[in-house]
Amino acid sequence: MTTQWKLATRAEKMNPSVLREILKVTERPGIISLAGGLPSPKTFPIQEFADACAEVLHKDGQAALQYAASEGYGPLRQAVADMLPWNVDPAQVLITTGSQQGLDLVAKVLLDPGSRVLVETPTYLGALQAFAPMEPVPQSVATDDEGVIVEDLIAKARGTAAGGFQDAARFVYLLPNFQNPTGRTMTEARRAAVSEAAAAAGLPIVEDNPYGELWFDEAPPLPLAARNPDGVIYLGSFSKVLAPGLRLGFLVAPKAIYPKLLQAKQAVDLHTPIFTQRMVSAVMKDNFLSRHVPTIRTLYKRQRDAMVAALRREMKGLDVQFNVPVGGMFLWARMPEGIDTVALLPKAVERNVAFVPGAPFYAGAGDPRTMRLSFVTANVDEIDTAIAALAATIREELAGLSERKLAPAST
Ligand SMILES: Cc1ncc(COP(=O)(O)O)c(C=O)c1O
Repeated sequence: MTTQWKLATRAEKMNPSVLREILKVTERPGIISLAGGLPSPKTFPIQEFADACAEVLHKDGQAALQYAASEGYGPLRQAVADMLPWNVDPAQVLITTGSQQGLDLVAKVLLDPGSRVLVETPTYLGALQAFAPMEPVPQSVATDDEGVIVEDLIAKARGTAAGGFQDAARFVYLLPNFQNPTGRTMTEARRAAVSEAAAAAGLPIVEDNPYGELWFDEAPPLPLAARNPDGVIYLGSFSKVLAPGLRLGFLVAPKAIYPKLLQAKQAVDLHTPIFTQRMVSAVMKDNFLSRHVPTIRTLYKRQRDAMVAALRREMKGLDVQFNVPVGGMFLWARMPEGIDTVALLPKAVERNVAFVPGAPFYAGAGDPRTMRLSFVTANVDEIDTAIAALAATIREELAGLSERKLAPAST
């Protein structure tokens, strides 16, 4: 008899990442990809890592290659606590294998099948993926340019028979800084209102902030965690300020929930590679990040400016809307009526440019006209070429649409 692999219900809910599938197309030689969220490799401090690697091996080689504490490397937890703009006890810091692992741990600890989890419209696709195996019901909270709309958040936080759900939402997942995918930043006023309303409603917040340090002109307002540390699990990452290949992130959790997150982590991977933690700790000494991160900001700002200028130039006369993000890696654009960006993508790829369609980033029905454009991976010349190619693709698509409209109905 052939072996019968009976899948768990949660495995049935796992889907291949649309993003990863798209990235495969973009690996074709000659494609300029505005699709992936890949930090510019020019920003990776390779020499500093080489020096730190030698130092760790020579000074602490045995400890660096041994099993270690699940909570993380003490000096790194302290460095994380020192880095954050509110009073954080290092005992509340859990080092994670990327902030993506933080999302997995939060989901395991807080979600049952059928639990409601509130997310922004749209939200980070990788979070929806991390939550999915716990079989929750994600619900989108309405948003405007300033972030989530407080009235809708609070209406959805409570369980009401009228709303068709009995239980309170388990948490709301928020990305206040340079959000993935929209590049949007939550204003000071909205943060204050969200924080106050969530505290009054007893609604836990999971705040994801991998991009917060990548601001261009001024630092964003204080995180939600700084306003109500007991009501927020805060997720951070070294991916965007050092290198994503490290797979190094952290979370800061209220004391009431920390032990459960730690137990969940122990079951997943015992601990995050201690060698990497010690190496990053060595790289970060002498305030390295305060010298390094400004160089990333300068580079990304220049590329954001190039993309905005190219969009203004190339999309002239087309009803294409886009925002001007004040930090991070992404810009959000909305195409003219009739264009579906999923259908547009292969045509853009034929012209050697790739983007990510917006629809997969919505927990509910997506807006088919939207797309996410990354301005950090391609250089300025490539951005110019790519946006010109994208505009040509859109013009061709619009011409095709109006031809189809004019064509007599077939019998
Ligand atoms: C909003 C958001 N959260 C989490 C992650 C995961 O980051 P990490 O590399 O720290 O796992 C990403 C990665 O792009 C992201 O955009």
